[in-house]
Amino acid sequence: MARRTLTFVCQNCGAVYGRWQGKCDACGEWNTIAEESSASEAAPGRAARKGRAFALEPLAGAAHEAPRLASGLAELDRVTGGGFVRGSVLLVGGDPGIGKSTLLIQAAAALAKASHRVVYISGEEAVAQVRLRAERLGLSGAKVELAAETSVEDIVATLGEGKAPRLVVIDSIQTMWTGAVDSAPGTVTQVRGAAQALIRFAKRSGAAVFLVGHVTKDGQIAGPRVVEHMVDAVLSFEGDGVHQFRILRAVKNRFGPTDEIGVFEMTGAGLREVTNPSELFLSERDLGSPGTAVFAGVEGTRPLLVEMQALVDRLSMVLAVLEAHCAVRLGGHDVYLNVAGGLRIQEPAADLAAAAALVSSLANAPLPPDAVYFGEVSLSGAVRPVAQTSARLKEAAKLGFARAVLPQGGSEASAEAGLALEAVTSLSSLVADIAARGRSGRAAPAPRGAGRGLGGRAETG
Ligand code: TYD
Ligand code: MG
Repeated sequence: MARRTLTFVCQNCGAVYGRWQGKCDACGEWNTIAEESSASEAAPGRAARKGRAFALEPLAGAAHEAPRLASGLAELDRVTGGGFVRGSVLLVGGDPGIGKSTLLIQAAAALAKASHRVVYISGEEAVAQVRLRAERLGLSGAKVELAAETSVEDIVATLGEGKAPRLVVIDSIQTMWTGAVDSAPGTVTQVRGAAQALIRFAKRSGAAVFLVGHVTKDGQIAGPRVVEHMVDAVLSFEGDGVHQFRILRAVKNRFGPTDEIGVFEMTGAGLREVTNPSELFLSERDLGSPGTAVFAGVEGTRPLLVEMQALVDRLSMVLAVLEAHCAVRLGGHDVYLNVAGGLRIQEPAADLAAAAALVSSLANAPLPPDAVYFGEVSLSGAVRPVAQTSARLKEAAKLGFARAVLPQGGSEASAEAGLALEAVTSLSSLVADIAARGRSGRAAPAPRGAGRGLGGRAETG
């Protein structure tokens, strides 16, 4: 019987200590060290046995190219290096809500459609929830075998029955637990133990196992960095929190390159592969305007063109554009921009509304009360289209607004919302409109006369 020893394990980085301490020396985090019992980590549930001698092989000999299984999602296959390698274990990390479950159910369905046995185990969602997502994606017909389970022993026993699966998805590794370790579920030791058992299963059965891992606020795969060292490949699924595109990147790959990226767009019907990302990144370019440059970059083997703009802070950017392109002199004023309710807005689409509020204040020209504004302002003073035009318009109509000032190109989106749409292509035309309102309506000074000392206080919302 193995003697039960107490160890203290940092829940952030997995460092092990003989006694408790407040700060982890390895990663520098405070209060992350928790007591765990490690009676049987090395030999789960079994007494130590005598080693068995095995045959050693010469280095020269038949080498097999690792047999791969293409998922059918070209952008995913590009990142893995050509598909899933038999018996390999991949870990995909990413922020909650970024689309990990969506990506994996799409990959699982694609493989199932190619008549491979695919099993999807969800430890986070009920079977009904997974089904609902599949339905939304139009994948209900795919023969993916589904379960909501968290016990690794039960999962391995179930998978051992019948034909070995080609792909097993575990969503997520943090929800799995193994009876071989008697630490609490969710601890580093549990997650490591569960990952070990699943890796053993992959090597033994030849199934590729795809683990989902949560990411902590500082971008690391939560709990076990140790799991990253145990698996064959670590992929990271990223977005910028504003746009709908998502980038899949290999952080580690024993069987392929680590510099390839896959580009997807999150749509109402799941992730769409973007086979020509330059088109996506350059689609909103204003040609022939000063202040921007196209960067010809390369990501992995794929050239990628992106327009570069020097943006530090959106409000100071909007102010700079107003001064440089619209002859609105703000230098002599204190400027305050306040968002009602204290909401923190990060969307570039807020640029147009911020500019309208500032100019309106400066020109002492109230904006029409039944109008909403949205649009991104570029450094050149152009007003650029933003995502989800129709959702914005619908909401405005619902709340009784009658018109929308919005970027050109967004305006074909939905006349059905019942709003009058006023498309603006440049910030200077918006400024001229607001100034004209000021002159005609209230005999207020135009923006050019800004030296007259208006408060410059703008309140939006
Ligand atoms: P999900 O795959 O559940 O994220 P994760 O597993 O990384 O937490 O995706 C969640 C988000 O994606 C959710 O906010 C809704 C959105 N989504 C779409 O926009 N379109 C879709 O077709 C699906 C399935 C989700
Ligand atoms: Mg999920």
